[in-house]
Amino acid sequence: MDSKAKRPLRVKVISMGNSEVGKSCIIKRYCEKRFVHKYLATIGIDYGVTKVKIKDRDVKVNIFDMAGHPIFYEVRNEFYKDTQGAILVYDCSSKESFEALDTWLNEMKREIGNPAEIENVVFCVCANKTDRQKRTVDEAEGRIWADTHGCYYFETSAQTGEGINEMFQTLFSTIVEACENGGKPPSISTSLGYTKEQAEAIQRLKNSKSDWERLGLYPGSSKDEINKAYRRLAVLLHPDKNVAPGSEEAFKILVSARTALLRGK
Ligand code: GTP
Ligand code: MG
Repeated sequence: MDSKAKRPLRVKVISMGNSEVGKSCIIKRYCEKRFVHKYLATIGIDYGVTKVKIKDRDVKVNIFDMAGHPIFYEVRNEFYKDTQGAILVYDCSSKESFEALDTWLNEMKREIGNPAEIENVVFCVCANKTDRQKRTVDEAEGRIWADTHGCYYFETSAQTGEGINEMFQTLFSTIVEACENGGKPPSISTSLGYTKEQAEAIQRLKNSKSDWERLGLYPGSSKDEINKAYRRLAVLLHPDKNVAPGSEEAFKILVSARTALLRGK
């Protein structure tokens, strides 16, 4: 026997996020390779164990699947401590569930208390239910949130299985790496390739209600002001310079907004 064989690792992973975003289904898809359509709310907390092999090392993962509903706060708050990994889930067809990510992170920070312990937790954000047609939170928004909060980001569907294995693989191997490095996870390289300003410009172009708003101008602004605003945004959005998802579409919207506004001059 190899005398240097490493002993098995025991790790703890929790799931967080609003109710009905698909936390239990993501775990079920990974552990049991199946999907349940019917919604069965988690009551307080569900617990399960799975064994994996990461880089020749046996890992026993204890998964604590939390209930998202606020009435279960008293039950789940006990389970935040001594966690190595957290799956932070939102439903990409529910803006509310995306906006709740900050609240979830804050709840965890409050319960754990010690900032050094939080720093050692590996976080994976799941933009879940990507199989749905009606998407209201796009990839760029999700990626930016994850990136600015030091989390990995995955597009997932518990229904089709998209991204689920990749997410767990990253979560477990990063945890193992952290354990072998005295508990400290490697810092996530922010390789987005685009800035927050560029991504926000895309959002504004896509979500604005009027052409004035699209160009960030007051209604009735002069021809000069329109052209100036256009040039500034064109530099920010041009697909040759902006590799964020949606830049091409946003650039087209920008061009037609400018054309429409100048026509009225
Ligand atoms: P709580 O336990 O109440 O916190 O909810 P949860 O986050 O565990 O949600 P759960 O996994 O129970 O899923 C809620 C509902 O969403 C169920 O009806 C699932 O079938 C459905 N669902 C989960 N994941 C997906 C997905 O990827 N795509 C689609 N279309 N539906 C999903
Ligand atoms: Mg659940």
